[in-house]
Amino acid sequence: MHYATISNRLGGLGSDKWAVHLSARAMKEAGTPILELTIGEPDVGPDPVLADVVASALAEGRIGYSNGRGEPPLLNALSKRYTARTRRQIGPENIVCFPGTQTALFAVMLTLVEKGDAVLVGDPLYATYEGVIRSTGAEMVPVPLKPEHGFHMRADILEQAITPNARVLLLNTPHNPTGAVLTAEELAAIGDVCRKHDLWIIADEVYEELIFGGGFASPLDNADLAERTISVSSISKSHAAPGFRSGWAIGPAAFCERLLPVAETMLFGNQPFIADATAAAIERPSGVSATLRASLKRRAALLVDALSPASGISCAMPEAGMFALADVSATGLSGEAFALGLLADEHLAVMPGSSFGDEADGFIRISLTVPDADIEEAARRISRFAAALNEEKKVAEA
Ligand SMILES: Cc1ncc(COP(=O)(O)O)c(C=O)c1O
Repeated sequence: MHYATISNRLGGLGSDKWAVHLSARAMKEAGTPILELTIGEPDVGPDPVLADVVASALAEGRIGYSNGRGEPPLLNALSKRYTARTRRQIGPENIVCFPGTQTALFAVMLTLVEKGDAVLVGDPLYATYEGVIRSTGAEMVPVPLKPEHGFHMRADILEQAITPNARVLLLNTPHNPTGAVLTAEELAAIGDVCRKHDLWIIADEVYEELIFGGGFASPLDNADLAERTISVSSISKSHAAPGFRSGWAIGPAAFCERLLPVAETMLFGNQPFIADATAAAIERPSGVSATLRASLKRRAALLVDALSPASGISCAMPEAGMFALADVSATGLSGEAFALGLLADEHLAVMPGSSFGDEADGFIRISLTVPDADIEEAARRISRFAAALNEEKKVAEA
């Protein structure tokens, strides 16, 4: 039978990355108690306004077909929010609604690139980005994000990575998995490179409300970059509502005109009752993001503190998000070998850094979306495993 090449490009992309997580799940099913700190889902309930408005919208019969761009109340709420944030008029012509950031990323990428084009992306990178880029036929060009720069993208390193067929920089700030938050100055320098090489910037800003200190900056809010920037986001993290599948893309009107038929072809519109709930939620400060942010920050600090005496482990405080990255390279193991050993010996599941790109090879990613006691227990098990490795090393050297 014939298959389109997209299925070859995407087939098998995910499975290797999730090997440790899948082994952990299999061990759990077989009856071994596993402490699982692999994936990150908000561990608080969704903003209560969402369920209230969904219930009333359903009672009002808001279940018909929508239009392709988005329901007017949601477009209006997004327009107000982004006009205030960017200090420029953002109208419905600058907005297309999607079921989540992930679909927005896919449709935006499909509108901008194809075979023969290249997309630059920071490495480490969020697990689905490679698929989003490869689905279009475009080539992925990693831009190394260095631990010694706090994993912040540097304009000079970006410039070195640029190829003649580069069309897009896929930027993620706050960043998953590193937690790096780019400053307005860093974005301006990155933006200068993008202007010089006429690159679009897709800015994934889904963690905007989960920054632990300091402010949020966006290329969309920089007037010099607005004509080439598309910002994508959702209520998944800000309102602890990933299952609502409600997100959007904000960009230049001419771009959105081209994005709209792509979105319509994929979706034939979104769900009016979800749109109403999203509009109500984003019209006021989130009822959950402050709590979520505080608990993630507290757990990150707990983990960093508890791991500081551990031999061969170095865990820096993340600036944002749901994860901490610990450098395990001084133990002599790769992140993957460390994660596999940790699962086998200590029944603790974490993600190997290599699941997120070559630059995170010597790291493990630890999810912060579990209770404080589990974070403390995880730190104990990591420390014990690292100490055992250290002993083995000493014996081997003696
Ligand atoms: C960086 C990043 N982008 C996008 C997503 C997906 O977001 P959504 O639920 O809005 O599709 C995630 C989810 O973890 C993420 O970490």
